[in-house]
Amino acid sequence: MQAWTATGHGSLRLAEVDEAEPRQDEAVVAVQAFSPNRGESFVLERAERGFRPGKDIAGVIVKPARSGHGPGVGDRVVAHLDHSGWAERAVVPIDRLAVVPEAISSEEAAALPLAGVTALRLTRATGPVASRRLLLTGASGGVGHYFVELAASQGTQITVVAATDQRARRLLELGASERIKRNDPQSSFTPTMTRQSRTTWPRSCGSLPPDACTPRSAWSQAGRTRRGSSKRWSPGRCAATRS
Ligand SMILES: NC(=O)c1ccc[n+]([C@@H]2O[C@H](COP(=O)([O-])OP(=O)(O)OC[C@H]3O[C@@H](n4cnc5c(N)ncnc54)[C@H](OP(=O)(O)O)[C@@H]3O)[C@@H](O)[C@H]2O)c1
Repeated sequence: MQAWTATGHGSLRLAEVDEAEPRQDEAVVAVQAFSPNRGESFVLERAERGFRPGKDIAGVIVKPARSGHGPGVGDRVVAHLDHSGWAERAVVPIDRLAVVPEAISSEEAAALPLAGVTALRLTRATGPVASRRLLLTGASGGVGHYFVELAASQGTQITVVAATDQRARRLLELGASERIKRNDPQSSFTPTMTRQSRTTWPRSCGSLPPDACTPRSAWSQAGRTRRGSSKRWSPGRCAATRS
């Protein structure tokens, strides 16, 4: 089959590759759509020749797991892999895929996994937010859009920081209650989710309040992988509550 493969010189090419043999608890998915993540582009800048990228995919099951568990032939699924998803077919552990509802296209579904899971874990890191007001910087990216949907569905009032009206429009449709522009000083907000944002906060929202707290676990908890290791990001984003 054909798969996008690293050349070893910072680029990709479509190459003919061998298909992996699925284990008991793995299904084979015919890939219909995939979405690239920024983190993958960083990896690809230094990837060795032959590395196969691809974390977020959607497609149709062509070979169900031999264990008898999981979706069957013809079911449309979305999946999150460590790599090797940008290919005609991908081998996926059944605990890393989910059936896609009919109303959602494969292209839409493929955009969900990493950004969606990151946003979901961020809602867990913030704890219950139903009666709180949040300020979300960096809101106009994939994580921000999912976070706004999840938090708004809990009844949270969210102010989003976005550079342009165009970037803010969809966030307001998804449930954000108001939008402020980058660099608008909002000293009545106190950051509660930040690590590197001590340096990026002033660029986003004006001066950093002196009582800003920086619980180090927040972002690493949001990024915890299924195997329990923590990724080290430089998020430059934070959530905050209006004091
Ligand atoms: N996407 C993922 O799957 C994923 C997975 C794990 C972790 N993360 C992390 O989660 C965070 C959000 O990811 P994302 O993909 O949603 O973000 P993104 O698309 O890279 O950026 C979101 C928005 O942040 C604003 N922004 C960019 N640089 C900024 C800066 N220096 N200071 C303040 N605002 C800035 C921009 O909006 P405006 O110009 O409109 O303000 C941009 O549209 C990132 O730190 C990323 O590394 C993302």
